[in-house]
Amino acid sequence: MRAVDIIIKKRDRQELSRAEIEFFVKGLTDGSIPDYQVSAWAMAVLLNGMTPQETTDLTLAMAHSGDVLDLSGLVEIAVDKHSTGGVGDKTSLVVLPVVAACGLPVGKMSGRGLGFSGGTLDKLESIPGYRVDLTTEEFERQLQEIGLVLTGQSKNLAPADGLLYALRDVTGTVQSIPLIASSIMSKKIAAGAQAIVLDVKVGRGAFMKDLDQARALARQMISIGELAGRRVVTLLSDMNQPLGNAVGNALEVREAIVTLQGGGPADLGEHCLHVAAHMLVLGRCARDLESARRMAVQAIASGAAFEKFCLLVEAQGGDVAFVHEPQKLPQAEFVEVLAAERAGYLSGVDARVIGEAAVALGAGRLRKGDPIDHTVGFLVHARVGDRIQAGQPLITIHANRGTRQAKVRGALQEAFEWSDDVVRALPLFYE
Ligand code: URA
Repeated sequence: MRAVDIIIKKRDRQELSRAEIEFFVKGLTDGSIPDYQVSAWAMAVLLNGMTPQETTDLTLAMAHSGDVLDLSGLVEIAVDKHSTGGVGDKTSLVVLPVVAACGLPVGKMSGRGLGFSGGTLDKLESIPGYRVDLTTEEFERQLQEIGLVLTGQSKNLAPADGLLYALRDVTGTVQSIPLIASSIMSKKIAAGAQAIVLDVKVGRGAFMKDLDQARALARQMISIGELAGRRVVTLLSDMNQPLGNAVGNALEVREAIVTLQGGGPADLGEHCLHVAAHMLVLGRCARDLESARRMAVQAIASGAAFEKFCLLVEAQGGDVAFVHEPQKLPQAEFVEVLAAERAGYLSGVDARVIGEAAVALGAGRLRKGDPIDHTVGFLVHARVGDRIQAGQPLITIHANRGTRQAKVRGALQEAFEWSDDVVRALPLFYE
């Protein structure tokens, strides 16, 4: 078999066989297929799609590119969650410690930033020392010892996804249902999840722009889960405006810490409680969503969730002093507040524009392997539906010398859309 023939076949809209997909995934994992061929193939998939069978074959091939964990001897039921990607989406940093504090162990494999959307691993690396490359043995030991793991793809765990993911980030090949579904589900299967809550984001700051696309992605992931014998719940949530206030790595970690301590923006807190409640029900820790939600609220109020987060950071080599005093996390040199140039109701806060502006400041990558700047980003002070006075702060920019602060300033003003009439707030969840 030759990689070029597989690229041509996909370019010509033909269905790839399981053997061809396995050959391609093996080649991208062992490096015998170079980045330029993997990128060309990813673009062909983005343009021409994949059949459900191809998507399932790709998922399983990527899941089996490294170890596939069997956690049945370690935990009663392995429950996991994953978001399809958004702006300001620091949900995992809050939900996982909450759920673990309620007695449900969680071992999760997250991703880095992808296009305009942030990534949990990049956020966690704002904490000096935090390791995201745990080995299989470390993953299993930590899950047993503290009931919480938050790591990334590694040489042992879903390496094919790690490699393809880094290329998709910088080649315009993120927005593809088969590539997203296989990327997410391969990580979940490799990490041994038996039950999975998928937070499918929909809107301007998501990869799925409307509910039809989001439903199609959700269905695809549910059917992969069924074939692999995993239980899957999908939630369709809003991503037209950023979630919470903070966008950017260290800023988001700080906001997650405040939320775990019982503060933080209301929308983020509510979103996290809802996702956590679904995980607790799926993990048979609670009878119904109402009692699960009460457990999650209590885990935050008692300080148990924050304590779990500290244990997680310590276990993965992070300096927990930065969690106890988040103001010590790395900070940008310049802070500038943009104020409203007019009065009115906000009818839009374009999450995509804000996400792209964060990448332009250095919060994301333009080339594979680029270092990122953990300090830069924004605090968004207003939400759709708010009544705003002229001069009221809309957004605070955190930037460093040499970043394109002036360029993003104009784009950010455009991200805010206005109406003279009352505008309804956006829902957190659609379905
Ligand atoms: N999250 C992932 O892990 N992969 C994607 O492709 C998108 C979101």
